[in-house]
Amino acid sequence: MIRRLHLATGLVLFTYLLTHLLNHALGLISLDALAVGREVFLAFWRNPVGTVVLYGALLLHGGLALAAIYRRRRLAMPLWEAAQLILGLAIPPLLALHILGTRLASEFFGVDDSYIYILLIYFVFSPLLALKQLLVTLVAWLHGCIGMHYWLRLKPWYPRAVPYLYGAALTLPLLALLGFYVAGREVARLAADPAWMAAAQTSIHPPDAATVSLIYNLDTAIIVGLAGLLAAVLFARWLRLQLTRRRGLLRITYPDGRQVAVLPGTTILEASRGAGIPHASVCGGRGRCSTCRVRIGAGAAHLPPPSEAEAAVLLRISAAPTVRLACQTRPTSDVEVTPLLPATATPLHTLARVAHRQGEEREVAILFADLRGFTTLAEHKLPYDVVFILNRYFATMGAAVEDAGGRIDKFIGDGVMALFGVDGSIDAGCRGALAAARSMAARLDELNQTLAHDLPEPLRIGIGIHSGPVIVGELGYKAATSLTAVGDAVNTASRLEAMSKELGAQLVLSEPVAARSGADLSSFPRQEIELRGRTGRLTVVAVAHVLDVRIATEGSV
Ligand code: FES
Repeated sequence: MIRRLHLATGLVLFTYLLTHLLNHALGLISLDALAVGREVFLAFWRNPVGTVVLYGALLLHGGLALAAIYRRRRLAMPLWEAAQLILGLAIPPLLALHILGTRLASEFFGVDDSYIYILLIYFVFSPLLALKQLLVTLVAWLHGCIGMHYWLRLKPWYPRAVPYLYGAALTLPLLALLGFYVAGREVARLAADPAWMAAAQTSIHPPDAATVSLIYNLDTAIIVGLAGLLAAVLFARWLRLQLTRRRGLLRITYPDGRQVAVLPGTTILEASRGAGIPHASVCGGRGRCSTCRVRIGAGAAHLPPPSEAEAAVLLRISAAPTVRLACQTRPTSDVEVTPLLPATATPLHTLARVAHRQGEEREVAILFADLRGFTTLAEHKLPYDVVFILNRYFATMGAAVEDAGGRIDKFIGDGVMALFGVDGSIDAGCRGALAAARSMAARLDELNQTLAHDLPEPLRIGIGIHSGPVIVGELGYKAATSLTAVGDAVNTASRLEAMSKELGAQLVLSEPVAARSGADLSSFPRQEIELRGRTGRLTVVAVAHVLDVRIATEGSV
């Protein structure tokens, strides 16, 4: 609830700022355009509902930030998080005078806080205030953009949108400030005309000296009050830590044997950060990304149960019962933890791929494909030509697999291994594997035509497909880590591919795959075979030419 409120109030404030900046940008057109934009802006924000939403969001967002500071057992945090916090804390004192001089002056002292009024203050009477306003605009925009970035970066579409959003994040404030500046210059020019100035004063009803003095006094009081509030929160936090310390420290033990002594109630992530132990936390400890997850060893029984929000994230990643989110788990006694992701984890390591990353047993369809006679061909080619042909072949096969909903597991020599049904049903996986086999054969024909002058004879392919339970997980080391499958079904699929040569078939698929693919394969010969290392016989379908297979949903799963 707190996290959602924080996000919701942040979004309200960001929207307010966004619309305010858009309004400013109209100054590039004319003062009239600026005024018309303001009418729309005020209609949205300066009505009873808009007022409650806006000022409620402002108070709640600030209050939640102070509460978060109070709750923290340690203040160590990544640079971006610290920057966002400091920028956020700077906004209220910088903004107070602007709010008092506009909304308060308008509501209680009859001032028309139009753009003319504001621009006269900033460009004629108190240019220094304009600098302050410029600063708070940039601070608020930066604070909002950081928040938006760390929220949106978990969305799968975000990497593609980043260049556009980045451009917008730079362009919008620039246009707004330019619009404001151009309009300010225009007002300063008009103000030189005493008649215009007199008319402006009459329509604005500027605050008198006593009101101005009151506004400045209120501003000072707010700044002092905010500083006092922050000091009180820090003091309360310190006091709380002292009281907690009396209950003694607990130990968090890491896989390398390192032990960190912390106060009860400290999150595991805070403990890691405080001790300088690198620990992934893509969402900054907001319980959204799951990259901070740890496996709990000894001490698991004494942990408080996960909150509803943590439990929901753990459920989404199909986490084992011993896995917890380090940023949400506050041990109350000694505990052993093992971070499950490298500290360098990125948004790509978040929810969507977690189940596979941790390893899970799934039934999938496995496809192996191999080039026939390529070794002989390679012997008569220059290395450069071999690499060129193989890369064209891999690109073609990779596209065929992905277009059919599969995942390339690996390229081995001139062979391809692909998985289908990793994220869906096994039936869909079998349909996809057969569709991919057909597409591979078709695309290989096209590639042979394209490379006709480079090849002494057309490339030929042998394909084997089998399905069954396997362990799917991300295995490997550093850059060589990839999603892969291990298990008997993988070996069987590989042997079916090898058998395609013996059987003179372009494709050999096992009966389970044939049945689940939904394709009519009744016209192709079936036979029972024995496979080395496998007990029992396996019925397989041998297809001489894959393109003869008719499938209902070609190219889809
Ligand atoms: S840091 Fe993102 S869920 Fe814990």
